[in-house]
Amino acid sequence: MSRERPGFGEPRYHHELIDSTNERARELVEEGAASGTVVTAAEQSAGRGRHGRHWTAPAGKALLFSAILRPLSIRHRLLPLAVPLAVAEAAEAVGAGECGVKWPNDVWIGERKLAGVLIEARPPEWAVIGVGLNVAIGPDEFPQELRDTATSIGGGADVEAAFAALCEALDRWVGAEDDTVLAEFRRRDALAGREIGWTGAGEGSGLVEGVDADGNLVVRLADGDRTALGSGEVHLKLD
Ligand code: BTN
Repeated sequence: MSRERPGFGEPRYHHELIDSTNERARELVEEGAASGTVVTAAEQSAGRGRHGRHWTAPAGKALLFSAILRPLSIRHRLLPLAVPLAVAEAAEAVGAGECGVKWPNDVWIGERKLAGVLIEARPPEWAVIGVGLNVAIGPDEFPQELRDTATSIGGGADVEAAFAALCEALDRWVGAEDDTVLAEFRRRDALAGREIGWTGAGEGSGLVEGVDADGNLVVRLADGDRTALGSGEVHLKLD
């Protein structure tokens, strides 16, 4: 069967040190780089996280990965849910314990964050899928403020093996059928059944019921009403 396009990671541009792999991938988009192109780095000086946060990792111990996807179509409607599923599978394939997903797109082991995803997009033209996956970071190598909340695959896991596993998993999950993505996200959902609060686009609190068909987070409020949160500007707080 002929393939629609080369898989993720073809070509790959690796840097020992770069400001941000997402930033470099965006430049490559402007230069006309093909879908599937990936930028990786051993270290970033200005790694970007969600909500304008900074993303840091000790050199050579995390997978710092940005992939170009273009063009975007209706098949990519649930991309923000599909990507953490790929990351979770890749992490497990190289030795992580069972991974959960925390809406919209963090990957957790237990109560700790293993990986974050930052998707920057100009629909319908392109998306840059940024992934920061902690692979071999020792507990005392995280900055003090993350020591209670972050984790790493550990156990001698290898960044290159994680790279290969992530490319393979993205090939399967990006563009997967909506029903397949939703079923797997619900199976791994780390927030379902938990009390949360949120700020940003309005604020409130309630009990998480799960994700709806559009990938929004459905929360039951104290008065019994339901609300659906979009990922855009919502900041979650966990009880
Ligand atoms: C989050 O805040 O959880 C998302 C973090 C995403 C970090 C990754 S590291 C590789 C890529 N390049 C960046 O500048 N950010 C993403």
